[in-house]
Amino acid sequence: MEFILVTPQARPGVALIQLNRPKELNALNLQLMGEIRDALKELDEDEAVRVVVVTGNERAFAAGADIKQMAGKTAIDMLITDQFSTWDAIRKFKKPLIAAVSGFALGGGCELTMTCDMIVASETAQFGQPEIRIGTMPGAGGTQRLTRAVGKARAMEMVLTGEFISAHEALAAGLVNRVVPVGQYLEEAYRLAAKIAAMSPVVARLAKESVNRAFETHLDEGLHFERKNFYLTFASEDQKEGMAAFVEKRKPAFKGR
Ligand code: HXC
Repeated sequence: MEFILVTPQARPGVALIQLNRPKELNALNLQLMGEIRDALKELDEDEAVRVVVVTGNERAFAAGADIKQMAGKTAIDMLITDQFSTWDAIRKFKKPLIAAVSGFALGGGCELTMTCDMIVASETAQFGQPEIRIGTMPGAGGTQRLTRAVGKARAMEMVLTGEFISAHEALAAGLVNRVVPVGQYLEEAYRLAAKIAAMSPVVARLAKESVNRAFETHLDEGLHFERKNFYLTFASEDQKEGMAAFVEKRKPAFKGR
């Protein structure tokens, strides 16, 4: 891997992917995105990994897709490159994904945070979809996920003016889970990840799938989907263990079976 650093056990059960193009503010070139896809594939298959944290550095999570790589492309070049198959693979990652964000999360960088399941932000984080300033628009879910997260009025303003919002504005708007001082954002993401890693990984997977379904379907279908997954948890040893532990007043030990 040239542009990311992967630590499969950064904490027990928690892997870390760190974007590592600091000079370019972690601009997301095609190779970097391919590396994230490949790393996630391995981490999905690794049973010791229960949660993945994705981060950048203090100055930038990622300042967007690599403008220098895109600048001369034609529409047909973009179509043939099919970069969004990579994004689709990230979207389909089965384990919980937490973005730990400091500094710039712009354009594709903001879209990458929103492709994750939760966002922990430092006080210096800034979120934005500034593509309109360079003559294009969000292409990796920005108009869709941002609108679902913060509502039409704010999303429309961000997408049409390109202006950024601060971490605290993002928190108030419901885009991020929590905001912490800059020295603590990664630790805070690990803390959140550790809580989830202590749960049953099979149930976490079914629950993640069910929450995501809420964005893709109408209520009746979503409730039906949820119910099936709920029933399915009763086929797991972890459900038996979780309920037995409650009755016996002890901590459950989930095995992912
Ligand atoms: C390529 C980038 C980049 C990007 C920054 N750099 N963002 N290179 N693609 N998206 C490079 C700069 O060219 C510069 O390299 C170095 O990183 C540092 O950036 P500066 O601009 O000097 O830093 P600063 O003055 O602090 O400004 C930070 C910034 C600004 C506000 C984040 O860099 C900026 O506006 N970047 C572009 C943000 C953007 O428009 N993102 C959306 C991209 S389109 P050199 O070599 O000159 O020192 C997109 C579409 C997604 O994301 C579609 C789906 C994939």
